[in-house]
Amino acid sequence: DFPYTEVGSLADHLKDQVVLIRGRAQTIRAVGKKMAFIVVRERGFTVQAVASELADMVSHQMVKYVATLNRESIIDVEGIVSVPAEPIKGASQKVEIQVRKLYCISRAAPALPINLEDAARSESEIEKALEAGEQMVRVNQDTRLNNRVLDIRTPANQGIFRIQSQVGKIFRQFLLSEDFVEIHTPKLIGGSSEGGSAVFKLDYKGQPACLAQSPQLHKQMSICGDFGRVFEIGPVFRAEDSFTHRHLCEFTGLDVEMEIKKHYSEVMDIVDRLFVAMFDSLNENCKKELEAIGRQYPFEPLKYLRKTLRLTFEEGIQMLKEAGVEIDPLGDLNTESERKLGQLVLDKYGTEFYILHRYPLAVRPFYTMPCYDNPAYSNSFDVFIRGEEIISGAQRVHVPDFLTERAQACGIDVKTISTYIDSFRYGAPPHGGFGVGLERVVMLFCGLNNIRKTSLYPRDPLRLAP
Ligand code: 4AD
Repeated sequence: DFPYTEVGSLADHLKDQVVLIRGRAQTIRAVGKKMAFIVVRERGFTVQAVASELADMVSHQMVKYVATLNRESIIDVEGIVSVPAEPIKGASQKVEIQVRKLYCISRAAPALPINLEDAARSESEIEKALEAGEQMVRVNQDTRLNNRVLDIRTPANQGIFRIQSQVGKIFRQFLLSEDFVEIHTPKLIGGSSEGGSAVFKLDYKGQPACLAQSPQLHKQMSICGDFGRVFEIGPVFRAEDSFTHRHLCEFTGLDVEMEIKKHYSEVMDIVDRLFVAMFDSLNENCKKELEAIGRQYPFEPLKYLRKTLRLTFEEGIQMLKEAGVEIDPLGDLNTESERKLGQLVLDKYGTEFYILHRYPLAVRPFYTMPCYDNPAYSNSFDVFIRGEEIISGAQRVHVPDFLTERAQACGIDVKTISTYIDSFRYGAPPHGGFGVGLERVVMLFCGLNNIRKTSLYPRDPLRLAP
């Protein structure tokens, strides 16, 4: 009946009390034959436990047994809290535990495929260690991903996925508070949702089918279903052939769709308020996680304004032109020009987060609404963090015949999306929305260099496991 105490809550006020904790044996060190030290880790907090025959706390057998434990095993430790004169190196908690009883709940294999201390080092620490001739292994990305369950245990990775969880939470809470309804749309669909070739095809009981490339079509249909404002958090499948630092074959989409009363800027207003609230909240409430990430992967906090900067595409290419980069005024930006523009925007406006809108129609998906004043452009936008895209959004075409025309013009077989087009025939409000890539937001907010770092079990053209 003895209750467990969390390692993170062990402190001076528990001095001389008996506590029971459960955690992993992070390190085990025998000192002579009569004492053994174990650092016990639970959810990022660590405490040192001392099994000592000298203090008559445990038997000789127990000290021997402790010394044979394998790192990362799950153990229960019962003992008395003491306060050492000096803080213990390598433990987050200031107190120590004098072991009375110890049980191994789950034994880890004796040899781990990744040394977690090596896996947690920053690049500069690795260089220093190698220079000093220390025996260590640089853990490469594939080894990490092949052994992800271990890799996730490093402090930086714990930080990354706790931040990811917060991004999802803030997204959901913000939108619920703005009267959006959370929906769940099918991922097995008859036709492609974004067009293009990046679609996983499959056989659906004899019918050709696809994995949804986004909830685009069904979120719009739900707007025709009278919800007014909807959002979804769900998996998105892209049969990408590219091996880049920012493309996955499966990622988590944060999607929004809403009625527009007057102008597509209403959608950008939501982006603005949602993301400023998100960044504020991450900076305020995730200090520990951000620090843990920064210790291994140093980065500067994101620079953003209280009111998000909006530039038109034309203004953007003008800035690039003045900097000597020529862009087709009706073409798209490539990765390099997006980065360059990001730098120019930072220099001129002091922000690494901004919205670029009124893109050329030709580079946007078929469902995008052309600008009323100039149909060569569209009521659409992309949003950037540190010069890389995290969001694309737009007002949509809600007039069924025009939508059919646009789909045909973009080479889409309208038969495969007829139920989508038909849903606009019974009265469809003007509407728009946007899609956010969760892994990209976390990667770029934390200044990380590869999206595989922010996907728990990444899927890329070569990786389908673990
Ligand atoms: O730009 P995308 O393709 O837009 C859509 O899916 C639209 N339906 C959104 C809308 O509502 N108009 O994807 C949206 C976001 C991108 O900005 C990017 O953050 C992310 O999804 N994304 C990817 N993330 C990881 N791997 C990939 N292959 C991605 N493709 C897009």
